Amino acid sequence: MYDFRIDAGDKAAMYDEMAAALEALVAGEPDGIANMANAAALIWETLPDLNWAGFYRNVGGELVLGPFQGRAACIRIPFGKGVCGAAAASLETQLVEDVHAFPGHIACDAASNSEVVVPIVRDGQLLAVLDLDSPKTARFTKEDAEGCEKLAAILSRAI
Ligand code: SME
Repeated sequence: MYDFRIDAGDKAAMYDEMAAALEALVAGEPDGIANMANAAALIWETLPDLNWAGFYRNVGGELVLGPFQGRAACIRIPFGKGVCGAAAASLETQLVEDVHAFPGHIACDAASNSEVVVPIVRDGQLLAVLDLDSPKTARFTKEDAEGCEKLAAILSRAI
């Protein structure tokens, strides 16, 4: 049984604890789908105010839905489309305070109002993107983006 109780006072400490928990979850496990599934569960259980947390994988130059928590979502996203596609095409984190103002945003869940998407890259190649959605406008800050980038760095060795 895994029972991570993460109750840190500030965001940076919380992401450090999440990173430690994620390292423990993926240690010695080579299966990327299993590791993404546990990562999605950890993020979903730890971070408040999310309505979706999960992965799109780079499958032959197209984003394809991976393990997630939340409502059923769009399955395929071309590079360059929406927030996930922008992260995939640019290999840069996308921090979006108001998804309705983002050109081409793909509304998988009408409840989403803000989003952060972090590319997971190994040896310059995109493996997947980590996508978090919130019903709260401007839910994600630079600290969240940096915290998610730490998680993505761990996953770049584990998926
Ligand atoms: N809103 C995303 C699509 C994926 S879902 O939010 C799960 C986007 O514009 O890329």
